[in-house]
Amino acid sequence: MKTFLCKVCGHIEFNAAPDKCPVCGVTKENFIEQPDIIKKPGSTTLGEPEKKHIPTIIVVRKCGLIPEGCVDVHVKVGEIEHPMQKEHYIMNIDFYLDKKYIAHVALAPESVHPAAALHLKANSGTLTAVERCNLHGYWMAETSL
Ligand SMILES: [Fe+2]
Repeated sequence: MKTFLCKVCGHIEFNAAPDKCPVCGVTKENFIEQPDIIKKPGSTTLGEPEKKHIPTIIVVRKCGLIPEGCVDVHVKVGEIEHPMQKEHYIMNIDFYLDKKYIAHVALAPESVHPAAALHLKANSGTLTAVERCNLHGYWMAETSL
């Protein structure tokens, strides 16, 4: 699987560069292939940096907002909550279904927790969450719906 980065806004796409960046709107030429941009745990024993950056995904089958068929997905960064200070914070949490981009949640420091939620119409497939830390880059997690 290939990973592409938008040089303008930092958006990540999988498999192929899109004709237009879905976040900032620039053309395909602004995407570069970056195979190692998303950090992965160095071993199966997670240290504190991993515990603070790897997203935790919780799939909630029941939705209180859209009761007629909705799969809620909650994402928190990370197992140890990541800081949300001006100098060090989670800039965004993006969601992908079967590696296709579906949502971008931008976060500002200080007032919010490093977390996001989505209300999915899909009830099967692989859900990927990618978070971007302003100091430590991109981290991801995946789960099956
Ligand atoms: Fe960080």
